[in-house]
Amino acid sequence: MTYSRRRFLTAVPAVAATSLLIAQTPAAQTRPKSMAASNSETGLITGQPQMLAYKKIPGFLSAKQLQVHHDKHYVGALKGYHNLDNILMDESFDTTGYAARLRTRTHKANSTILHELYFSGLAPAAQATDFDSTLSSAIKNRFGSFDRWWSDFQAAALSSRGWALLVYQPLSQKLYNIISDNHGNGVLWGGVPILALDMFEHAYYLDYQNNKGEYIKRFVNFINGQNASLRYQKALQINEVCESASLPGYFHQYR
Ligand SMILES: [Fe+2]
Repeated sequence: MTYSRRRFLTAVPAVAATSLLIAQTPAAQTRPKSMAASNSETGLITGQPQMLAYKKIPGFLSAKQLQVHHDKHYVGALKGYHNLDNILMDESFDTTGYAARLRTRTHKANSTILHELYFSGLAPAAQATDFDSTLSSAIKNRFGSFDRWWSDFQAAALSSRGWALLVYQPLSQKLYNIISDNHGNGVLWGGVPILALDMFEHAYYLDYQNNKGEYIKRFVNFINGQNASLRYQKALQINEVCESASLPGYFHQYR
């Protein structure tokens, strides 16, 4: 399934939003840690890793590449986050190494969030879906066309040492392609991630070696567009929170 310009322009309507990292229910927060985590709940809450929806994605990522990435890097980050969070909640505020542990907890949390976003945003070609009409229109309004957005996204990914992301920023009410090295550098505060591409070498090196351009180029044919569209639908609801809060009007003046 190729993500063509024609398919972008005829994208299907959205279905009801059911999942987003930022929108967790009270029930999810009280789930016993022994229960398996569903893939709609972040491991930051459940303590359990989300499972890969697809063990391999033919034409994009092999089973070995995905397994190492998921089991070693993602699960390692998740465990590291919970371990540090437990330690930090217990210890006094001014111990040796406290600042380093605070930074590392943030690093591990961001890694967990982004890896869950990345894995859930992928689909084999036969299951790959378009962005819905809402997200497609927003991309077209912001970037001029799907092709221009995709060209910019590819250029961003090539220049990244960590992540390439499509995010929605509720204060400016705009979409941005951003890059974030080391899971956290370059974050656009308040930006809600819609789509993520892991540009750490561990994400592609087994399958692509130093040819990261080919990894990026193929990504567009293996996007779970429905997943991205649901995230965008949820992100739009944050506008209501921002509008009702006493926030600086800077972004609104220059929107
Ligand atoms: Fe990764």
